[in-house]
Amino acid sequence: MSRLKRTDRPYDIVLFGATGFVGTLTAEYLAAHAPEDLRWAIAGRDRGRLERLRDRLPGGSGIGVLRADVSEPATLRALAEHARVVATTVGPYVTYGEELVAACADTGADYLDLTGEPEFVDLMYVRHDARARETGARLVHACGFDSVPHDLGAYFTVRQLPEGVPLTVDGFVTADAAFSGGTLASALNQFARGRQMMAAARERGRHEPRLMGRRVTAPTGAPRFAREIGAWAVPLPTIDPQIVRRSAKALERYGPDFRYRHYAAVRHLPVAAGGVAAVGAVAAAAQLPPARRWLSDRLRPGDGPSPQKRAKSWFRVRFVGEGGGQRVFTEVAGGDPGYDETAKMFAEAALCLAFDELPPTAGQVTTAAAMGDALTGRLRAAGITFRVAARQ
Ligand SMILES: NC(=O)c1ccc[n+]([C@@H]2O[C@H](COP(=O)([O-])OP(=O)(O)OC[C@H]3O[C@@H](n4cnc5c(N)ncnc54)[C@H](OP(=O)(O)O)[C@@H]3O)[C@@H](O)[C@H]2O)c1
Repeated sequence: MSRLKRTDRPYDIVLFGATGFVGTLTAEYLAAHAPEDLRWAIAGRDRGRLERLRDRLPGGSGIGVLRADVSEPATLRALAEHARVVATTVGPYVTYGEELVAACADTGADYLDLTGEPEFVDLMYVRHDARARETGARLVHACGFDSVPHDLGAYFTVRQLPEGVPLTVDGFVTADAAFSGGTLASALNQFARGRQMMAAARERGRHEPRLMGRRVTAPTGAPRFAREIGAWAVPLPTIDPQIVRRSAKALERYGPDFRYRHYAAVRHLPVAAGGVAAVGAVAAAAQLPPARRWLSDRLRPGDGPSPQKRAKSWFRVRFVGEGGGQRVFTEVAGGDPGYDETAKMFAEAALCLAFDELPPTAGQVTTAAAMGDALTGRLRAAGITFRVAARQ
């Protein structure tokens, strides 16, 4: 449960960016599923749009409205001072996110976001982890499809294997889905900032304490035909393996020597080659400002896939875990990964931080370390599959 008492702050949860694409879906999810006594507010830069959103949400009259703008740091401080938990969808986070992290770390409010940007997560560790540890604030990044299914899926897989022995887990992601203007903007921004991302990772490395007496790695691996799942496996250098590695560093349960590898799984080799080429082309185009502008104009902020498209979208992450002479196949699966399921994961993570009995943590923490069992239980109850498919 949040370290702050309910009487300390007027709201249990404040959702910042509520008028954006995934922000609105998250507000709708909270309005439909939150406990009746939840005290919550929607926040954003346009009061009129927030009020119109509130008026169409079930139970809207009980939902607060707070105006805040990232260009006015005092308004972000006010958000943090009004909430036990602040959930923000205002991205790209490396551009817009830091002031709110700083305000939460300083005031002791728990913070969660939907970033998939390693540079942002590393910089926030370097600049705000120590202060958050002092105040007790938990800073939980990547609480959407990046990286909840992978982080909690690896955690779930580890828990099926023996304790105290070296373990390996491979994760294989398959999805059929479209993306939003906000996601495109964040991805293009990230592709254009390779140098800054490496610099932030190095700076984090200089600050982070060394892991003593245990080993945790997340090598990139090589493309291969993965006989164990009957598909081609292409290494996926997203933020997910970094998050899994941090969970393994934080939790002894991952054993004395843990290795995680992260892949996209595709049935046919030409699809794998086409996917790699397409991502490479977008990454190359993102280096050139005119090409980047042209790409970002294809999908504007606030745009995203229709309800019909989302209803047909799905994801599946298969894990193969090995250790202590055992092998286990597990699976995490659900509907539209980027938006419907992301809104669900995000809202349930906010509720989990606000209300559930959790291990004592503070500072920058992963979803598995901060909320492992409790959040897994919530997501299962909300319809996301976590299952053991086979044992050998
Ligand atoms: N991890 C995942 O799996 C995952 C999935 C989906 C999205 N995301 C990330 O989540 C973020 C949001 O995505 P989205 O599709 O919802 O994007 P979006 O529709 O463009 O929403 C962005 C939000 O940021 C707000 N905003 C922008 N500038 C602001 C400012 N100066 N002050 C206050 N608010 C400001 C916007 O406010 P207005 O409404 O007033 O314009 C909007 O509410 C992106 O970074 C995206 O990459 C991650």
